[in-house]
Amino acid sequence: MKVKIVADPATGGQSGYDMFAEALENGSSVFGLATGSTPVSTYDQITASDLDFSQCISINLDEYVGLAPTHPQSYHAFMQQHFFDKKPFKKSYVPNGLNPDEHDEAQQYEKLIAANPIDFQILGLGRNGHIGFNEPGTSFDSITHRVALTQSTIDANARFFDNEHEVPRYAYSMGIGTIMKSKQILIEAYGENKAQAVHQMIEGPVTEDVPASVLQRHPNVTVLIDQAAAIQLTGEY
Ligand code: F6R
Repeated sequence: MKVKIVADPATGGQSGYDMFAEALENGSSVFGLATGSTPVSTYDQITASDLDFSQCISINLDEYVGLAPTHPQSYHAFMQQHFFDKKPFKKSYVPNGLNPDEHDEAQQYEKLIAANPIDFQILGLGRNGHIGFNEPGTSFDSITHRVALTQSTIDANARFFDNEHEVPRYAYSMGIGTIMKSKQILIEAYGENKAQAVHQMIEGPVTEDVPASVLQRHPNVTVLIDQAAAIQLTGEY
């Protein structure tokens, strides 16, 4: 794992942009994207740039089950607002939260990714070490699946809904095995509330209790963190 420590999230956004631009320059054409607050600064810089990714495609990690693409808290809507409305890809894919058949949705999404292998995947890191919606205990071999959200994730996401009861209890998510097939991965994490997960991801044992620790086994991962998220690291980076 390459670890890059920057002063603050805005500087991280610049570094994330630089990596996206370099991947594009080097021929990447399929980009895996995350929602959440972490990559927004990177997305702002990408969408404000003159980079040409009009012939590329994007594939998002996850979507809440039960929310229509038009629901303001859906990940479809988030991506439209923070990325695609500003500067579109040729085609963008987000799991279909309205598909009532979880096996069908999983199969379709895996087929899509098999036909369009992800060159460059952007990830955020959950406070409990999750990646995508793959909560602690998820198999490292998992493929796209329906996930029951943990209370910690429901609590963390409740800020976006009127109250905790409105937070969906399930999501469709790429699996850990799916994510690990990406050729290159950038994981960003900012703020002290991510410090423990960052430490466990980089310096802890590789264990399904900390989903992001699997990234230690990937040959091309960059961890981009700010100083606050780095405070529990003991090594020199
Ligand atoms: C979002 C996703 C999640 C988030 C993680 C961090 O698509 O897959 O794993 O990346 O929960 O969320 P933020 O960035 O809001 O702290």
